[in-house]
Amino acid sequence: MCAEMVSASALKFNNEKSLNMLKIDKDEHPLSMQIFGGEADDIAAAAKLAQAQGADIIDINAGCPVKKVNKAGAGCVLMKDPDKIGRMVAAAVKAVKVPITLKTRISLNRSEILGPLIAKIAQDNGAAAVVIHARAAADFHNGPPNLAALEACVKAVNIPIIGNGGVADAAAAKAMFNCGCQGVMIGRGAVGNPFIFRDITAQLSGQTNAPLTAAQKLQLYLSLVIKNAQIYGGRTGVNRSKKTVGYWVKGFAGSSAIREKLVRSESLEETRSILTDAINSKI
Ligand SMILES: Cc1cc2nc3c(=O)[nH]c(=O)nc-3n(C[C@H](O)[C@H](O)[C@H](O)COP(=O)(O)O)c2cc1C
Repeated sequence: MCAEMVSASALKFNNEKSLNMLKIDKDEHPLSMQIFGGEADDIAAAAKLAQAQGADIIDINAGCPVKKVNKAGAGCVLMKDPDKIGRMVAAAVKAVKVPITLKTRISLNRSEILGPLIAKIAQDNGAAAVVIHARAAADFHNGPPNLAALEACVKAVNIPIIGNGGVADAAAAKAMFNCGCQGVMIGRGAVGNPFIFRDITAQLSGQTNAPLTAAQKLQLYLSLVIKNAQIYGGRTGVNRSKKTVGYWVKGFAGSSAIREKLVRSESLEETRSILTDAINSKI
């Protein structure tokens, strides 16, 4: 399980929202907590906080292309200064006992492949593994992964490389394992389909799981809304859950009408009743 990135500089200023993001549910282990920042000292301090909250792995982000993050000197812009990435990794390794990993990209733009160099620098500074999103930062999340560049990263180091980018089925995962990756990270393919991990693992050993029924998916979505309501409070929890409703409630007769009702729902009780009615109507 990998958690959403948390700002090291916000943690430095005791930002309550960021401190809350470090909280880990007892069922979430093993969990990799990701931090981002532009200064090695901040990263080291944030790593200590994440470790104190129970993070099993601490991952440093050097791949995010979001403007706000880049303006703070964090995310993919760090790729312009690989030595700085090395200093960040070294500072974090020194600060905590849990493994430090780095998540980065194959390149900033398609012209210059930086992944192998950065992976090597991360390794030399004590990183336990490197996650490579096999797309250029300039491509955000679009287009196929560059498997040749991913393979070059694998060849550059002795530590595990975890491949990422566009994996939504067993064939795509296999292509990354064939590059020598020791793990595969799945992003958007898991939204609305947390069983993707189980399904791909089964397919890689020649088995097939029965797909979830619509009712099972709705039941799971309801548990997500309930969890969000527990964490963020009823109204906010319900609203946050709406962000992914389109991934969960789709592809069966009447799904668009149910989706519309869910998007208008203003409380946990209302959402629960819409979903329970749908589940009981044997869709
Ligand atoms: C909405 C959204 C939020 C993301 N947040 C993070 C993040 O906090 N940290 C991170 O390393 N990557 C983040 N990513 C990037 C994903 O981890 C992943 O690298 C990217 O989506 C490519 O993998 P995929 O093609 O399997 O989705 C995010 C992507 C999306 C779409």
